[in-house]
Amino acid sequence: MSNSPSAATLRRGLMLLAVLGAIAGPSSAEEARRDARVTLLPAYSKECAACHTAYPPGLLPAPSWRHIMDNLPRHFGTDASLDAATLATLSSWLVAHAATGRRAGSPPAEDRITRSAWFAREHREIAPAVWRRPAVNSPSNCAACHVRANQGEFNEHDVRIPR
Ligand code: HEC
Ligand code: HEC
Repeated sequence: MSNSPSAATLRRGLMLLAVLGAIAGPSSAEEARRDARVTLLPAYSKECAACHTAYPPGLLPAPSWRHIMDNLPRHFGTDASLDAATLATLSSWLVAHAATGRRAGSPPAEDRITRSAWFAREHREIAPAVWRRPAVNSPSNCAACHVRANQGEFNEHDVRIPR
């Protein structure tokens, strides 16, 4: 049977798929995991992870970080102001480590990671009611489910959805 035209066609088809896969590069989930992995500046963990997860700089494009850092006194309904020196240090660190690949495109709505197209895709299997559970409260609360989010780890083995 191995010489039948259909087997040969199938083999060629599989080879073509493998080649196309190699050209397409890493999947969006792989790329997101890689973009999230960066050693955080201690000042970033201190100042920007007091109220929420230490969002990885690689998950937002540079214009979003600039816009966020230029508007800290009016930060999502709260005041997240910093002294001028810390503001300058953190702004340049965020911009230097901002998204490069697929995520470097146009800024998401409200400069939110959670409003990015890829975010919706990676989380499409989560039911709306899950986001509203008291232990989750908001999609922005990454660490509720990604137990190592503050270390920049978002792989599927470190996900526990709270009941
Ligand atoms: C005083 C508390 C506070 C501090 C300090 C703070 N934030 Fe926030 N941040 C918030 C709140 C509240 C939200 C909205 C969360 C929500 O919608 O659940 C938010 C949202 C965000 C988001 C959007 C998350 C999403 O939905 O994708 C980013 C990005 C962000 N903050 C970055 C920063 C950075 C950078 C710093 C440090 C300069 C910082 N935050 C410091 C309170 C704070
Ligand atoms: C309600 C729980 C929950 C919250 C909150 C949440 N996620 Fe997720 N996330 C998941 C689940 C479940 C998956 C799919 C894991 C899998 O691939 O099986 C996922 C997948 C991902 C992936 C792809 C990883 C992979 O290996 O496929 C990334 C990156 C990610 N999330 C980032 C974030 C970020 C950043 C935040 C916060 C702004 C966040 N998530 C908030 C549950 C959550």
